[in-house]
Amino acid sequence: MAAAARTPEGPEPEVLAAFEAAKGFMPRHEGLALYAAAREAAGLGLPLLEIGTYCGRSTLLLADAARAGGVSVITVDHHRGSEEQQPGWDYHDPDTVDPEVGRMDTLPAFRRTLHRAGLEEHVIAVVGRSPQVARLWNGPLGLVFIDGGHTDEHATADYEGWAPHVAESGLLVIHDVFPDPVDEWTGQAPYRVYLRALESGEFTEVSVTDSLRVLRRTGVAGSGRG
Ligand SMILES: C[S@@+](CC[C@H](N)C(=O)[O-])C[C@H]1O[C@@H](n2cnc3c(N)ncnc32)[C@H](O)[C@@H]1O
Repeated sequence: MAAAARTPEGPEPEVLAAFEAAKGFMPRHEGLALYAAAREAAGLGLPLLEIGTYCGRSTLLLADAARAGGVSVITVDHHRGSEEQQPGWDYHDPDTVDPEVGRMDTLPAFRRTLHRAGLEEHVIAVVGRSPQVARLWNGPLGLVFIDGGHTDEHATADYEGWAPHVAESGLLVIHDVFPDPVDEWTGQAPYRVYLRALESGEFTEVSVTDSLRVLRRTGVAGSGRG
């Protein structure tokens, strides 16, 4: 049988299959929108940065786009899970708990996911807390993808720590943006961060795919109200 053809704008078919097989929460149509944004942003020749690796589902698509564009992905996570992923919560997966330590550890699953897809060399994984890592970072980024903690404390810290590093014409992508509280499942902090980015005057909306929002830097960092 002939190999599945790659659509001109889409990820490699085997990467898309790996994405769909990986543990995680992002549906396919949002993944394709993330991939399209990452492909475009990789054209700037700058790294792509993700906050919230979990088991690598979205990282696969970023890595495929980075490979195509000749750049790297940096993905940041402490790998101990967000609030809603802890035992007793709806999004808890008992398989992610390290029985020796008694806490979640998604790093092994992430590494297996990336290895199986042959994408390890395109990704730099940083194990740590997003604000702590952000304080050490001082270079421009082609894309920042915020998909970390969903409390106001975490989403705000992710925005404040990383959005200033989005280069001119670079993209800020925010996941789990729910304008209607009826749709919320982990709160509206990402929505509040999204509004803040728009109100800052530094970012302009490019696309909306369900809860995935893509914004472009069209203003200078620090010039707005945000
Ligand atoms: C919704 S999951 C990410 C899902 C992933 N992007 C995917 O598509 O499968 C959120 C992740 O953010 C991580 N996280 C939450 N708060 C964090 C923080 N302050 N610093 C680093 N990682 C954090 C959690 O450990 C969790 O793995």
